[in-house]
Amino acid sequence: MICVVGGNRLKGDVRISGSKNGTLALMAGALLAKGPTILENVPRIGDICTMVEMLRQLGVATRFVTPNSVEIDATEIQSNEAPYELVKKMRASFSVAGPLVARVGYAKVPMPGGCDIGARPVDFHVKGLQTLGAKVSIEHGYVEAEASVLKGADIYLDFPSAGATQHLMTAACLAEGITRIENAALEPEVTELANMLIAMGARITGAGTSTIEIEGVQELHGVRYRVIPDRMEVGTFALAAAMTLGDINLVDAAQEHCTAMFQKLQDAGVQITTTNDVVRVQTNSRPIAVDLKTMPHPGFPTDMQQPFAAMLSLAEGTSIVSENVYERRFKYVNELLRMGADIVQEGRTAIIKGVSKLTGAEVSATDLRAGAALLLAGLAAEGRTDVSSVEHIDRGYEDMVGKLASIGAEIARVHVGPEPLVKTA
Ligand code: EPZ
Repeated sequence: MICVVGGNRLKGDVRISGSKNGTLALMAGALLAKGPTILENVPRIGDICTMVEMLRQLGVATRFVTPNSVEIDATEIQSNEAPYELVKKMRASFSVAGPLVARVGYAKVPMPGGCDIGARPVDFHVKGLQTLGAKVSIEHGYVEAEASVLKGADIYLDFPSAGATQHLMTAACLAEGITRIENAALEPEVTELANMLIAMGARITGAGTSTIEIEGVQELHGVRYRVIPDRMEVGTFALAAAMTLGDINLVDAAQEHCTAMFQKLQDAGVQITTTNDVVRVQTNSRPIAVDLKTMPHPGFPTDMQQPFAAMLSLAEGTSIVSENVYERRFKYVNELLRMGADIVQEGRTAIIKGVSKLTGAEVSATDLRAGAALLLAGLAAEGRTDVSSVEHIDRGYEDMVGKLASIGAEIARVHVGPEPLVKTA
């Protein structure tokens, strides 16, 4: 559990860690290379440890060479089956299927379950692999994909899915011929994956646009690659400043990935100034209500919908929040209501009437970004907030408690559980 006492104005510098979502895609991509790939600036979080375990279960030599860098040597891939208990924990691990088929001709990967933000099917992934010539069957909760060789093809995505774009771009790198992915996702993490694959010897053009073209090659080699900053962590700490009338410098912020978020913060009356890769976020007044519509990149990111709603709960005026990417990303609303927020949610829309104050309460994180939203609310609330189910937060934020404490938050992690059986001396 994480306990936070609200009311402190946050001030100081915070270094932004490497991107969780970026790292996960790069780790799956490293499966294509015969030779060691070293990823630097990797965030030390739960999801990355899960992915390290996943690669090890595939018999791929994978290790942390420093706390924030991982070496993956996929010269040998000894297994082509991903274990259920890992894919169940983290949907992104499903994306090892394509590289496995590309490298060893077969993959058996559990269907990832849905989670608290939506059904999150993988039909685009499956259809894309079939279009590349894989024989795909779905039985007993597993996706089995098989192909002696993948063949380049034109793939159209019904929705610009970040994960499907990354997964299929990776699989196409070792296919015979040309693959075009139409309606591809524009997220920075897609472009970064393409940059790494190109450094490995892949032939990819168009990443960052809605049409990506991949010309298959015989083999890829390992590289050293630095992970980009986590734009969701940038947004989360920017909101922490906005909600506590703070003044913080975000170091290594890669602001070029955060345009929509920063625009919305400025519309809410928050001052944002950037010099090189340092973003200063400050405000001396209560936020102003703004409307949000989540969209694929470069639109307002769905992952920031929940944390932003925490700020809008305290804003002057009424905000309308439309969640257009996931079908049920409002489970945090009930928890904010317990803190005194005034929110009415209907389907994919929440109407947030700003209140002058929130009060601390015992709340529970339902997913990663909901957990962040509740922590943010606790930083601004009167009194103490106890956030439970913080394993969700630990999946995606590196040292959140330490970073917030370093800029003045009154916050601590408290172990809640049965007394240890053996009393330590
Ligand atoms: C990535 O998930 C991120 N995760 C998510 O971040 C993020 O919310 C999402 O992109 C959207 O930006 C990682 O990168 C590991 P999608 P992904 O495929 O790739 C539907 C976080 O908090 N869809 O772009 O799984 C899907 O249901 C996480 O860090 C299909 O219908 O997202 C959703 O409605 C949460 N069929 C929409 O597309 C498919 O085959 C966007 O999903 C695939 C997706």
